[in-house]
Amino acid sequence: MMFWAWACVADESSERGLPEVPAAEEARARPEMPFPPDAVDLDPEPGRVAYALGAQAAVHLVGDEEIVGYGYDGMAPGPTLRATVGDVLTLDLYNTLEVATTVHWHGMEVPAAMDGVELVQTPIPAGGAFTYTFPVRHAGTFWMHPHVDTDRQVDLGLYGVVVVDSPDEPPADDDVVLVFDAWDEAESGDGAADDHTPPDPRTVTWTVNGALDPRWSLSAGAAVRARLLNASNTSYLALRWPGVRRLGTDQGLWGAPGVVDDLVLAPGDRAEVEVLAGGGPLDVVTAPWSAAGGAAWGEPRRLFTVEGGLDTAPPLAMVFSGAGPPPDPGRTDLLYVFQGGAPDTDWLINGEAWPEVTVPTVALGAELVVELRNLSATEHPFHVHGNRLAVVSVDGIAPDTLQVEDTVNVGIRSVVRLLMVPSEPGRWLAHCHLLSHEQGGMIAAIDVE
Ligand code: C2O
Ligand code: CU
Repeated sequence: MMFWAWACVADESSERGLPEVPAAEEARARPEMPFPPDAVDLDPEPGRVAYALGAQAAVHLVGDEEIVGYGYDGMAPGPTLRATVGDVLTLDLYNTLEVATTVHWHGMEVPAAMDGVELVQTPIPAGGAFTYTFPVRHAGTFWMHPHVDTDRQVDLGLYGVVVVDSPDEPPADDDVVLVFDAWDEAESGDGAADDHTPPDPRTVTWTVNGALDPRWSLSAGAAVRARLLNASNTSYLALRWPGVRRLGTDQGLWGAPGVVDDLVLAPGDRAEVEVLAGGGPLDVVTAPWSAAGGAAWGEPRRLFTVEGGLDTAPPLAMVFSGAGPPPDPGRTDLLYVFQGGAPDTDWLINGEAWPEVTVPTVALGAELVVELRNLSATEHPFHVHGNRLAVVSVDGIAPDTLQVEDTVNVGIRSVVRLLMVPSEPGRWLAHCHLLSHEQGGMIAAIDVE
């Protein structure tokens, strides 16, 4: 689908390098930034949060275009689930779709039986229901999405954010989610040959919390914590957002905060920022970024505009651990080599494509050094289920600070080293989060005993 043509009309002379917006588009009122509602906690007991959601058919309005899809409670993003570390979270999922579905808790350390993959769960049939329940272990910004026919179901709008607070983190005046999705990636899981071609980053249509090019008016003087998720199937974001302080990544706070101008979010990635700048309107844009080689040619695209707010808000009194990256133990316990991608071939991990894969067994609680080596011609955001991954080095260079992820982008010809301590027994998937690659077999598994 292609319903947004103005980006092709680049204005060379524009001071900000933004595409020129034709008068007709400018005349149409830009929407206010919507935020998904918080799901209602049905359990009044402290230490427990209980939610109920329906996986439903939905019609999403992207600009003027109606897209027939799915949504949790009919929304994309679905309602936000919130919990505090130590809570037991319960979700009753009612499936009113005409197809089977599951919920995968992306980034959360859940018991294997709750992971929502077909290894452990018969998908919830049309008209069926399932109760997920597990203790919440870590603070951070996680997300939920189906893990059956994943490419298609996520593309159609089944995703939502799970925010886990920690009593150690000061509450912000506004704690919001910003979920980015790309709606015309030309790949809805039909397995077509063009699944191997990354979408053209110059032409995809991004929405933020389901809205096209909204304005976000900050309340004056409020400390704002924003939790970002790239829920797209295959499109990268390279955000340019001056005046934010980066607080954290997939698995919560960094060892130390940082001011960032550029923030690359691969599909499945999250980041946490504190919005510091206020005053005049500020456009937040994404620069073209392609799985076929990072920064790509083209004009930045506006995602939304931040307005109002004041820089007089005191920064959040967040306490960072000051921890650095873990030292490299100098050995490799698990090696993943990425290959493939030529037309009509599978995407391969260690020369294998799912489900014909060799499954190594590792010990519960043992420290594992994981090395990812990308020999293919595209980048891959590699995601390991149910585990936390501390970044040791990227191409031999250690990060500045402790950085704990569950989805790690591996550039072309890049080598990423990670430390992982399996904390739950069972069989866990590890796969590329470009969902067309996942669909194409780029999945491995690990047995934890
Ligand atoms: Cu977010 Cu196996 O996925
Ligand atoms: Cu991939």
